[in-house]
Amino acid sequence: MNNDIERILVSKQEISDMVIRLGKLISEDYKGKQLIIIGVLKGSFVFMADLIRAITIPVDMDFIAVSSYGDSTKTSGVVRLIKDADVTLTGKHVLIVEDIIDTGLTLKYLKELLATRSPLSIKVCTAFDKPSRRKVDIKVEYSGIEIPDEYVVGYGLDYKSLMRNLPDLCILKPDVYSIK
Ligand code: IMP
Ligand code: MG
Repeated sequence: MNNDIERILVSKQEISDMVIRLGKLISEDYKGKQLIIIGVLKGSFVFMADLIRAITIPVDMDFIAVSSYGDSTKTSGVVRLIKDADVTLTGKHVLIVEDIIDTGLTLKYLKELLATRSPLSIKVCTAFDKPSRRKVDIKVEYSGIEIPDEYVVGYGLDYKSLMRNLPDLCILKPDVYSIK
């Protein structure tokens, strides 16, 4: 295993079960509706790739890119839009797909931004959730797996842009970032 990893928190098998569960729920809830999934780059791209293949109804998709972290493990609280969605959201049901919800600041910003484009609804789907870290109240309709307040990497999540390719969700060794 990677030397910077302390242990696996959520295994790829548990992740796969979670993706199947969410895919089924979403397919049932949006049956007969025009669904567009907006993935939040970069972290969500691995989850998104798995999730869309667990969804059995027609689905359109696009990506949006934001940044709030820089190279730190603590959020700066300032959300920056790096790439906007290209598709029109008017008359469509929007599902925002996140890798993880921490303070909730990113999602609050994104929900407010996308709400100005007259979609029929906006809901949120996340692979992982750290509810104990929330700073703003955000409704999460589809939540994969709740995790404790640990900095995690893998399954799309990074530390300084690396480790997104680990197939399990792993806890980083604290000394990897605490001494810097
Ligand atoms: P929030 O705005 O504080 O909710 O932060 C959400 C974003 O921060 C996520 O989309 C991730 O990109 C990033 N993030 C939050 N926690 C972690 C973590 O434990 N590991 C890696 N990235 C994280
Ligand atoms: Mg990130």
